[in-house]
Amino acid sequence: MNENQIHIMTHPLIQHKISMMRDYRTGTNEFRKLTEEVATLMGYEALRDLPLEDVEVTTPIETCMTPMISGQKLAIVPILRAGLGMVSGILALVPSAKVGHIGLYRDHETHEPHEYYCKLPDPIELRTIVVLDPMLATGGSAVAAVDFIKQHGGRKIKFMCIIAAPEGLKRLTETHPDIQVYVGHLDRELNADAYICPGLGDAGDRIFGTK
Ligand code: PRP
Ligand code: URA
Repeated sequence: MNENQIHIMTHPLIQHKISMMRDYRTGTNEFRKLTEEVATLMGYEALRDLPLEDVEVTTPIETCMTPMISGQKLAIVPILRAGLGMVSGILALVPSAKVGHIGLYRDHETHEPHEYYCKLPDPIELRTIVVLDPMLATGGSAVAAVDFIKQHGGRKIKFMCIIAAPEGLKRLTETHPDIQVYVGHLDRELNADAYICPGLGDAGDRIFGTK
């Protein structure tokens, strides 16, 4: 694995909130709020190299050129469903970012991802694209999502997940060595059903209250 492309979060606030998400007693409402908060905290780190441009601003004292982020240059792309839970957390930081969607679900038997929806902001080529999914398990969904984005012309891609398994992190970074990957916590391993251990269960079900 290329250590330069992997960013594992160490901030105590992120670790604390992830621990609360893991707890099986945490209900849908609180789980959703925590997902959003962790996304915001991770976004602060993942967006530290967003391009700035000087714009003219008049202060109470004088007019000056001062740096600002252009939301037009950022696209966030949640992987449906669970990635949706992270969108508002990033939009809290960059409200004018464009939002694309990629619909993927894992087959319960084979654990392979299947695409059912893809709509990306156009043009995509010059934007920084942040793919959102709370869980990186086998890595199949993340690899497929980055494949789609590259096929549509996306170049500068970041992937952000709240929990990763070593197996998925290895697969994603080896398949796409040119992307940056941000991980809230790196867990121990996958179980026989390809769930992350200790993990937090099924992120989509916990965010949307299904099962
Ligand atoms: C979950 C999760 C990821 C995927 C990770 O989605 O949100 O997209 O599994 O697993 P992988 O790394 O092995 O591909 P799921 O397929 O359960 O769909 P959902 O979000 O609609 O519940
Ligand atoms: N998807 C989830 O939501 N949880 C896991 O542990 C693995 C894949």
